[in-house]
Amino acid sequence: MSKVTIRTFWERKRSAQKIALLTAYDYPSACLMDESGIDAILVGDSMGMAIMGLPDTLSVTLDDIVHHAKMVRRGARNALLIADLPFLSYQISPKEALRNAGRLVTEAGAEAVKLEGGADKFGPAIKAILDAGIPVMGHLGLTPQSIHQFGGFKVQGRDPEARQRLKDEALGLQEAGCFSLVLECIPAPLAEEITGMLDIPTIGIGAGAGCDGQVLVFQDILGWGKTRFAKQYADVRGLTRQAIEDFAAEVRSGDYPGEEHQYS
Ligand code: KIV
Repeated sequence: MSKVTIRTFWERKRSAQKIALLTAYDYPSACLMDESGIDAILVGDSMGMAIMGLPDTLSVTLDDIVHHAKMVRRGARNALLIADLPFLSYQISPKEALRNAGRLVTEAGAEAVKLEGGADKFGPAIKAILDAGIPVMGHLGLTPQSIHQFGGFKVQGRDPEARQRLKDEALGLQEAGCFSLVLECIPAPLAEEITGMLDIPTIGIGAGAGCDGQVLVFQDILGWGKTRFAKQYADVRGLTRQAIEDFAAEVRSGDYPGEEHQYS
């Protein structure tokens, strides 16, 4: 498999070939994804809930993302490595947005960054990052950094006004120069309509089958998390729990370690 770049994303859209992304937060997971031919790996601020035991993404820091993205970088050879700009790392000023996006590139080796919200609010930040040569992925719909404004994790874009706003924001992000756009938790027909309007690829999460690609949180496909839209492909949680219980039971019974696990 050859190296995936943002140009691969555009080619896939042109040739109607779907794009598959997963989140990863560590080296072994990134190695497996890369070997399996995943197109892109997102070091997302979903790490707050997926691996840090937090209720939401709001207290995930730039240092957290840098720390985990460094591990993922070592495992991701062909997959495009995208890192999230966490809450308050790009909202304060375009200058801070660029400095923080730059850290994701120089310290962690990210090849693109992702931020949440429309170009009406963050156009200048997006421009500053793009002017420095860093590709930006947009993110609309249920943007988890705004959950308090939404009143919780709720499907977005249900009424006509919200639908129109999302369509305008999607076009705005394309115009601002985003290379791709995540659509999270919006009705499938709306996601399909937005996908048809744009030249850049849309990546859906809980946004139906009409997007140009799909992203899921790794822990969700393995059975560690529970969301309506995530499909569980394996019960790794159940297998891991069984392994822990078997280990503890064998230590207690004296069956582990056996002869073959000891040095004479
Ligand atoms: O943080 C994340 O993992 C994300 C994806 C769910 C799109 O933003």
